Amino acid sequence: MLEMNGLQKVFRSGLVETHALRDFSLTVDAGEFVAVTGPSGSGKTTFLNIAGLLDGFSGGSYFLDGYNVTQLNDARRSKMRNQKLGFIFQSFNLIADLNIFDNVDVPLRYRGFSGRERKKRIDKMLEMVGLLGRKKHFPGQLSGGQQQRVAIARALAGEPRMILADEPTGNLDTLMAKQIMELLEDVNRQGTTVIMVTHDPNLARRANRHIQIVDGQLTDFQMYEPLSKIQQTAVAV
Ligand SMILES: Nc1ncnc2c1ncn2[C@@H]1O[C@H](COP(=O)(O)OP(=O)(O)OP(=O)(O)O)[C@@H](O)[C@H]1O
Ligand SMILES: [Mg+2]
Repeated sequence: MLEMNGLQKVFRSGLVETHALRDFSLTVDAGEFVAVTGPSGSGKTTFLNIAGLLDGFSGGSYFLDGYNVTQLNDARRSKMRNQKLGFIFQSFNLIADLNIFDNVDVPLRYRGFSGRERKKRIDKMLEMVGLLGRKKHFPGQLSGGQQQRVAIARALAGEPRMILADEPTGNLDTLMAKQIMELLEDVNRQGTTVIMVTHDPNLARRANRHIQIVDGQLTDFQMYEPLSKIQQTAVAV
């Protein structure tokens, strides 16, 4: 699904150069659930933005679904982004002057669904995140956690092949975080690839694979069994 080789990302502002990713290589197979952890400023969001074709890179190569990303023109790149990817941003990125219903509708408009099909999907997703009753509200009228849930509904509504989630549970209480995690796991079981940045080690442990970014590099490469299996093994021993 995703193959990055020796990626470099340098931000230049004035005289300051920040090497946000250095020699970053990662392969993610279709259907995987990958958790990404790492300290603040280590390059996690930078990695997701590049993975999601929202930002370019300074060196190395990136293949998404077999396509060499650097060789795609802007139109092809946007098309791939709209058709294959769903984003849950760290800062929500909801459109302030659209109500909740219309925010979730944004990616669906690119997919060529009928109006009726879009409404059905939007209502289903808003119900799933517990916000159907607020569909006429605007983002500014919602709490941070509620906005986060709208962002999640928007990312999932188009049934993307891959979901890129930046701290999707960061603004949610424990119960809601658990429900959102279950929702992502559910979507993953149905075949969607999920890459999720999180600070929560308990959530990271639930993924098929846990990777760590430190100082722009992949440091630790560990395979975790799901927690429940580890507990079962412990009992068996
Ligand atoms: N647009 C930009 N211009 C200049 N520097 C940037 C830009 N975006 C990110 N950086 C720098 O790149 C580095 C990686 O940032 P990034 O946002 O990827 O970190 P992060 O791991 O997502 O951190 P956090 O956990 O706080 O969200 C940081 O040093 C940051 O200051
Ligand atoms: Mg970040």
